[in-house]
Amino acid sequence: MTSFSTILGGGHSALVSFACCALTLSAVAQQPLKTLLVGVDHRSVTSLNGEWHYLVDQPPAKGLYASDGKVRDNGYALNTHPNIDSGPHNEEYDFATAPTLKVPGDWNTQDPTLFRFEGVVWYEHDFNFQPTPNTRTFLHIGAANYKSFVWVNQMRICDHEGGFTPFDCEVTAALKAGSNFGVIAGDSTREVDGIPSVGIDWFNYGGLTRDVSLVTLPTQFIDDYDVHLKREGTFSAANTKTLTGYVHVEGAPEGTPVTLRIPEAGVNTTLKTDREGRASFDLQPNSLALWSPETPKLYKVEFASGQDKLTDDIGFRDIRVDGTRILLNGKPIFLQGANMHAEAPYRTGRACTDEDVKNIFGFLKDLNANFVRLAHYPHDERMERTADREGIMVWSEIPLWQHISFDKPEVYAKATSMLNEMIRRDRNKASVILWSVSNETPNNAVRTQFLTNLANEARKLDSSRLITSALLGPHLKGTEMVQDDPLADALDVVGQNEYIGWYEMRPEDADKITWTLPQKPILISEFGAEAKQGVHGGKDERWAEEQQVNVYEHQFVMINKIPQVRGVVPWVLMDFRSPTRNIPKLQDGFNRKGLVSEDGKKKLAFYLFQTSYKEHSVGKAN
Ligand code: GCU
Repeated sequence: MTSFSTILGGGHSALVSFACCALTLSAVAQQPLKTLLVGVDHRSVTSLNGEWHYLVDQPPAKGLYASDGKVRDNGYALNTHPNIDSGPHNEEYDFATAPTLKVPGDWNTQDPTLFRFEGVVWYEHDFNFQPTPNTRTFLHIGAANYKSFVWVNQMRICDHEGGFTPFDCEVTAALKAGSNFGVIAGDSTREVDGIPSVGIDWFNYGGLTRDVSLVTLPTQFIDDYDVHLKREGTFSAANTKTLTGYVHVEGAPEGTPVTLRIPEAGVNTTLKTDREGRASFDLQPNSLALWSPETPKLYKVEFASGQDKLTDDIGFRDIRVDGTRILLNGKPIFLQGANMHAEAPYRTGRACTDEDVKNIFGFLKDLNANFVRLAHYPHDERMERTADREGIMVWSEIPLWQHISFDKPEVYAKATSMLNEMIRRDRNKASVILWSVSNETPNNAVRTQFLTNLANEARKLDSSRLITSALLGPHLKGTEMVQDDPLADALDVVGQNEYIGWYEMRPEDADKITWTLPQKPILISEFGAEAKQGVHGGKDERWAEEQQVNVYEHQFVMINKIPQVRGVVPWVLMDFRSPTRNIPKLQDGFNRKGLVSEDGKKKLAFYLFQTSYKEHSVGKAN
């Protein structure tokens, strides 16, 4: 399976002819378009969120896979109905009478019988649609874990691999006036050659975990844009006068006009597309207030071309490295953050609602954080939108977590397309300052080459942000930690994970440790210890909240001695579900390194960080 969603064209003539009696000739003729729509959350769409019928297709999932492993187009995808009272015996499944699951949402926390289910679950949804002449319609899926196979009215539309990034599939040719139905098979089975691979330390929630909608667009439409502050050699107020970027109009012939307006900044200009439909620009707004945590200024940016128009809310800022310092709009910054999994506070399950995101940011704000590492995969776009508004800087990552099949070219292809999907969705989010290409991967030459190439690919896709990765802790030599992982050479900012006081050594040993680290900005991208909320005891009593505080206090002693440290990111803001955490009464299926329990109860360590961040007592920006 190719990584970018595979759009299925003419290959399935039998299927097309079977399903398309009502389809217009032109709809059949035009090849489905491959694209990834930017700014869908700012477009008027037909939401398909809500109750979807579901059926569980237990291994070997014969409703989906034939015995040779190939995907069946004549299985549950046809959404036929069993002949109950009369007629010959036929397929033994029926969506119409099946129970429903909420979309967006994972299936694990909705149906107790599916709590630990990893495999194939089918979704079916009926919807009405009225085709509009001279338009194209796309099925937009915010994310679906892990592999997705999509049919509309029995027509195979597309496949997608990757559980945390959006994809769009053109359904124009399949849709008809009146009632239609969509069938999506989601397969959350973990695979060795998957990204992530099999041994993850987070809960493998399956399903249509983010918003699903139909996006109808004129035949020429804006599918991508980039508007950011032009990056000059050195930062100075004088050279924050230029906005640069492009607008891409799908289907537009050369010379097609595109208007770009930023009313508040006095921008109102008309651009022209080139042969590829791209209208590039450099323009000088009257004045620009730059985005920062203190002043998270967002501008309404209006794009229009032909029949199509959309608006986005975009902030402008400059982020760069200067030696071992990180500069935001030319000023040195220190990142006071927390790691977070995309798990909903209080109810657990995948975070996918405004409420979930509001709760998460409530804790970040309470913590006096100015930064969040969205581990270990792109989160719901609501997170970046809220970070933009709240002035919280973001580390966004693709899930190349620990052991990955780095020796396989097809895995590299998957990685580049997940990278593309992540960057394309969030390139206009001022809050996102770091793209991460991996976490704690084994230090060997094949891996280093793979990730170095990926880091350079990220720079090609977006030269306005910093590239990072979280590196494993080096081995202790006496009382010295020497980080000599060659991957650091490919990074702008180095993330250092270490668990001194929990996985290795005693908390107080940190006081004596010195670090040799690359002369680059360093983030302590993970550190911490487990504590069961409500368990109290001595500072050396593992699982007690006091012990977690003790580990962090000694960490602060060690970190304050490392001049290159420009940020600290405790693992983790909130206890989260993990299949590998099975100590009853203490873990009960949760990683307990949170500063807050999964049901929102703050541990003592939360208040330690709240105070330290308020007083800026850990680390230095300069
Ligand atoms: C690792 C890893 C995390 C994991 C954490 C832990 O560093 O990156 O995903 O959850 O350690 O062991 O708690």
